[in-house]
Amino acid sequence: MLLMERGHAWSRRRVSEPAPTGTTETSQDAGVCFSWFRFPSVCDGYLPKVGRLARLEDFMGKIAVYPGSFDPITFGHVDIVDRALECFDGVILAVAADTPKDALFNVNERVEMAKVALKDKPDVVVESFRGLLVNYVASAKATVILRGLRATSDFEYEFHMASTNKNLNQKIETLFMMANKDYFFVSSRTIKEVASMGGSVKGLVPECVERKLRERFEALRKKK
Ligand code: PNS
Repeated sequence: MLLMERGHAWSRRRVSEPAPTGTTETSQDAGVCFSWFRFPSVCDGYLPKVGRLARLEDFMGKIAVYPGSFDPITFGHVDIVDRALECFDGVILAVAADTPKDALFNVNERVEMAKVALKDKPDVVVESFRGLLVNYVASAKATVILRGLRATSDFEYEFHMASTNKNLNQKIETLFMMANKDYFFVSSRTIKEVASMGGSVKGLVPECVERKLRERFEALRKKK
């Protein structure tokens, strides 16, 4: 992973590509496998480092970690990523490997589906993490956890999680983004329920997810 600094925009580099000249790469031990390289931001040398603009410049080099189970990823999640990219230079979609036993898809499948769903977004990295989220966020040199909120019913759970994370690491902030009205009712849980009974989830999840759901439930039906 390349070290990140504030005040610069960041762009993703494919892991297979060599490190650009003039950059230093350091290894990380927390399963972080993305790479970024630094290029001068439009702000470099132009904006005075005072007042509001100084804060704006700080914001220019920011990445957000968007964690979740993503079992599976839905268009509601994709929409949050799209809107987060308007506010951040990059988004890491972090798929929790330690999810309850009743997950429909294993972590590799969940990561794979998310990668396909987000393949056209160059400033997004998808990866999995284990253990405490705050440790993962710190290892990614990020300070922002992003979560989507659909309804007030989400709030209590989210409030507890954000408070726990804050207690664990004061430097990490949780930011919430309201779900798009078109996806207010969409959750991975209801998507799975509908798909398990043969209902259509078209327009609510990416095509690759639709296909995977169909295959998985067909296979489960045959097993019975
Ligand atoms: O999509 P989800 O299931 O609501 O996501 C929950 C998730 C994965 C973000 C949360 O369970 C999590 O952060 N797990 C990692 C373990 C951790 O850090 N727990 C302490 C915070 S509650």
